Amino acid sequence: MSNKMWGGRFASGPDAIMEEINASIGFDFRLARHDIEGSKAHAAMLAQTGILEPLDAQAIIRGLDEILREIEAGTFKFSRALEDIHMNIEARLTELIGPVAGRLHTARSRNDQVALDFRLWIREAIDALDEQLRDLQTALAEKALAHAASVMPGFTHLQPAQPVTLGHHFLAYVEMFSRDRSRLRDARTRLNESPLGAAALAGTSFPVDRTMTAKALGFDRPAANSLDSVADRDFVLETLSAAAICAVHLSRLAEEIVLWATPQFGFASLSDKFSTGSSIMPQKRNPDAAELIRGKAGRIIGALNALLIVMKGLPLAYSKDLQEDKEGTFDALHSLSLCLAAMTGMVADLTPDLKRMKAAAGLGYATATDLADWLVLTLKLPFREAHHITGRLVAIAAAQKKGLEKLSLAEMQAVEPRISQDVFAVLGVENSVRSRTSFGGTAPRNVRIQAKLWLKRQKK
Ligand code: ARG
Repeated sequence: MSNKMWGGRFASGPDAIMEEINASIGFDFRLARHDIEGSKAHAAMLAQTGILEPLDAQAIIRGLDEILREIEAGTFKFSRALEDIHMNIEARLTELIGPVAGRLHTARSRNDQVALDFRLWIREAIDALDEQLRDLQTALAEKALAHAASVMPGFTHLQPAQPVTLGHHFLAYVEMFSRDRSRLRDARTRLNESPLGAAALAGTSFPVDRTMTAKALGFDRPAANSLDSVADRDFVLETLSAAAICAVHLSRLAEEIVLWATPQFGFASLSDKFSTGSSIMPQKRNPDAAELIRGKAGRIIGALNALLIVMKGLPLAYSKDLQEDKEGTFDALHSLSLCLAAMTGMVADLTPDLKRMKAAAGLGYATATDLADWLVLTLKLPFREAHHITGRLVAIAAAQKKGLEKLSLAEMQAVEPRISQDVFAVLGVENSVRSRTSFGGTAPRNVRIQAKLWLKRQKK
């Protein structure tokens, strides 16, 4: 049997494989609610503009509401033979209200319909992600405030570099997630134009009111070019790229948690809620949630790559390749949402080992820069010379396998006679962080101010 939606010029139905490769209902059923919302706005506009009899529009809208109830109740029967969500809904509408259902598709095509539905879906997903990101920022800022003065090693090249505070470290991620939110908001602003009324590609000869449907669906305006609005998916690409960058941020934090939780670092432990055991090694506590967050960044980045590649050779306007925009996106944004929830839980639950962090902060001559700065400030040496003297002192201490603060004054004066007793004050890790008061620096006072600022911003 030929397709009941478009089978007029077909004598027979599709090959089984054709049906399988063509159908999108297996994943685009997720657009059901948005499809119905769009159809209702379209029907109301058709009535308002006199294109459709008001009674017909009413019957259509009532039928669509009934379908929504069926979908929410789980009683709606999705059919693969009907290809996609748009035709599944229209076919059911025909069953419910008869041939008048066929009038809904006046002045519309599945091309502007799917471009509309997907915009509505993405817009909702962005709003949900924004809330999750805000929750994660709150969890991080709270931890930052609690640990504004807790000293830990700051690394470059994963080598101990200079002491920082744990609060400062957490706030670094708060900043990153703030930019992620702003990128998502940005994508939302640009996607918020309605494609409805572009029809298949060229617009329509019916006297539609595109501003009316755009307004009813919460868009800022109708999109100005019909070809563009059915053919581009840059709103998906922008959202996926913001998602991919966010996933990379999450993955870096996850990687740090994995490192911190090793016995070698011993900087933090995860609660039972976010760890798993091994089926063979009874002693193990594995940071699986962090590892999965790190791992899922792969599929999120993959979804962005996949869609960029789908799009790159497509002539205007619609081609069926565009149906490939959905599965990866659904998966990627769902994965990101899961990662955000897991990370928020993990951060709130993380117990840092402050003693160990502080001890590690003093390892590896992490206050050598403070010594060099002291030589500049107190003895007015040029920084390069101070750097050189400090390097020699580090070499002497390293040869004796001890810390800088364990060198005697005499040993120091053998290298630079003007060094005095008060140099020892800057060799402690706490003094080191306390002195980093430049704007954006790690001093506990700065961290407290910034953490409170973030907590206040999140409440708005
Ligand atoms: N399922 C299709 C998609 O997701 C809907 C649009 C179909 N349009 C067409 N001209 N065949 O892209």
